[in-house]
Amino acid sequence: MISIIGAGKVGSAAAFNILRYRISDVVLVDIAENLAHGEALDMMQAAPAIEFDGTIKGTSNFSEIKDSELVIVTAGHARQHGMSRIDLTAKNAAIIRSITKEIVKYAPKCKIMMVTNPVDVMTLVAYKESKFERNRVFGMGNILDTLRFRSYIARELNVSREDVRALVIGEHGDSMVPLINYASVSGIPITNLLSKQQIEKVVNLTRTSGAEVIRLKGSTVYAPAATIAIMADAVLRGRNRLMSVSTFLQGEYGLSDVSIGVPVILGRNGVEKIIELKLDSETKEKLQQSASLIKEALKQAG
Ligand code: 2OP
Repeated sequence: MISIIGAGKVGSAAAFNILRYRISDVVLVDIAENLAHGEALDMMQAAPAIEFDGTIKGTSNFSEIKDSELVIVTAGHARQHGMSRIDLTAKNAAIIRSITKEIVKYAPKCKIMMVTNPVDVMTLVAYKESKFERNRVFGMGNILDTLRFRSYIARELNVSREDVRALVIGEHGDSMVPLINYASVSGIPITNLLSKQQIEKVVNLTRTSGAEVIRLKGSTVYAPAATIAIMADAVLRGRNRLMSVSTFLQGEYGLSDVSIGVPVILGRNGVEKIIELKLDSETKEKLQQSASLIKEALKQAG
């Protein structure tokens, strides 16, 4: 079973995606009992149309997450237009500490997927508070950035998004590091297909597109919700997918005591393995800078 903490737009859309792809039963938890219950009731009424025969429950009672295999945390303040994700650190750190205590109490064997921003900082807060092994606490961030990177590469080349493969590492934020040398279309490096100017344009769109959606409609919903479902599928079905998630590093990439987006094998045990890529010196430097920014923000988390 999957529990989702936070029945706001992202949490509810993620829940519906998980039901739609028949990944798992879902318990949707929110301090606003009516919101959680109403979202669950609405989805239950849609269930025949998506051939879902499992259960979706909405509650404000944390004990209902008992024995969840995966707990997804979306609760907390979301950034407004003009804010960076890092601006949310102080407010959300206290919320995540309190939620993590409840998770440890009712689902001590679960994996925790952090979504609340700034996700790299919140992943570390949850990891430290839970005292879980590091493979069981990870953050959703760079896969979302990667979906955006893939979408913009496909649009620039007018090719199927399906054929575009890419990786983004680093902070899920302004200092993210789209890996140009690892991006390809059906195995053809994008450096063979796009000019330097086009690549710069695509990288910039990837970096700024979350903020643009917030400017236009107030918050991002479908893209984070789709990303959460991809990650939930990898964990619940033990798919061992290679994707970039925020994870606690202990020397990998020359980094320690920070949670940051790096390529991992994501499967039944959470982060099954951290993949250390060969990075050129410029990319290594960007990743180090990204880690420093996250560590700086950590200080605000207390
Ligand atoms: C985003 O980039 C919510 O951080 C998430 O849309």
